[in-house]
Amino acid sequence: VPQRTNLSPFQGGDKTERKHMLSASRAISRASCSAGAVLVGTRSIASRSSSFSSLVRSLARPVPQPRPLLTHLPSPLPAAFAPFQAKFSKKMSGGGAFRVVVTRNIPECALKMLRDIPGAEVEVYPHRDRAMPREEIKEQLSKGCDALLCLLTDKIDGELVDAAGGRLKVVSTMSVGYNHVDTAALKQRSISLGFTPDCLTETTADTTVVLLMATARRLGEAMAAVRDGSWGTWDPLWMCGKDVHSSTVGIVGFGRIGQAVARRLKAFGCELLYTGPREKPEAAAVGATFVTVEELFSRADFVVPMFPLNDATRGFFDLARFKMMKKDAIFINATRGEVVNQEDLYTALSTGEIAAAGLDVTVPEPLPLDSPLLTLPNCVVLPHIGSATVATREKMATMAAANIVALAGGKPLPFMAKL
Ligand code: GLV
Repeated sequence: VPQRTNLSPFQGGDKTERKHMLSASRAISRASCSAGAVLVGTRSIASRSSSFSSLVRSLARPVPQPRPLLTHLPSPLPAAFAPFQAKFSKKMSGGGAFRVVVTRNIPECALKMLRDIPGAEVEVYPHRDRAMPREEIKEQLSKGCDALLCLLTDKIDGELVDAAGGRLKVVSTMSVGYNHVDTAALKQRSISLGFTPDCLTETTADTTVVLLMATARRLGEAMAAVRDGSWGTWDPLWMCGKDVHSSTVGIVGFGRIGQAVARRLKAFGCELLYTGPREKPEAAAVGATFVTVEELFSRADFVVPMFPLNDATRGFFDLARFKMMKKDAIFINATRGEVVNQEDLYTALSTGEIAAAGLDVTVPEPLPLDSPLLTLPNCVVLPHIGSATVATREKMATMAAANIVALAGGKPLPFMAKL
């Protein structure tokens, strides 16, 4: 709409028509809100000018939107438009309230955005320490649900969304990965999928590098030694790890997070290798070299997968691949636990096929206390905290909520996954 508001120098038509066109265009400029509200707010002009109806028709066509930035998230609409939007929301939800189900207690800023949707009823699972049980999600959906805000811990499939009885229009996941969502099932039911791309790139890259450092320099063991009394006199042979500076780091999958990791490690003087389906022009900026996966495994001191989980990448890191790595290689995983065959990783770590591993993701999560991996001093495990900073989690929640606010206002989802 904003791109079409400077229509005032309308060419053609008589003087009266141009006048009507001008006031229509001004009305539209003022009505920086949903298309529904634009139509209502300018109805009197429409009845006076036939050209206006063609203008409205052209406005109703989807206009390519510039990719919205976080700073452009919907601000509250002017109060005057609330009745129109409430009416529109009601229409969307088939007459009742616009009902949103949120499967966990998420940052308040995002809940407020949802509660501010005119006519919205927002049901939030109140617990932070456990995922909403599947049966409970189903029960909430069956009470009527227009939008579901979920997390990566919720398995979303056809059977689950069918509990909403065809009313559900969007699933908005507060995560960048959406391997927990059956995308084909959503597509089949014409349910849109929102997610939170880009906003956690830098934070997750920080975590990945912290994990790499902690594993290389044995921070977990060293910190435990301070507390359990095994810290004796300064010992030239004690707690020696592996240098990160000047090492060779191999990144498998050179997407946004992979590139952000590379930028950080370049500052440590690392030689950077990467592999993936194709060479990336962005690699030149950090001086990363494209190599085959075999070459990467044979040369890297640190092997860092940075690709999403899908059918092709599930179980990618198995014993055969660990055996291709150097005996003193360190494996770092902050993507998804399922890209690793964990039994094979245990074997590789306990038989010296590789030197150590740092994991921010495991299968399952949380990793059971009796997992063999936890018996290994050369395996550092973090509890999936890749994106865990206050600012990033607030951004993620806000983006997930923005998708639902957009839906309620009849706008395209700003952060929509391609199904
Ligand atoms: C975190 O792992 C995410 O996918 O957002």
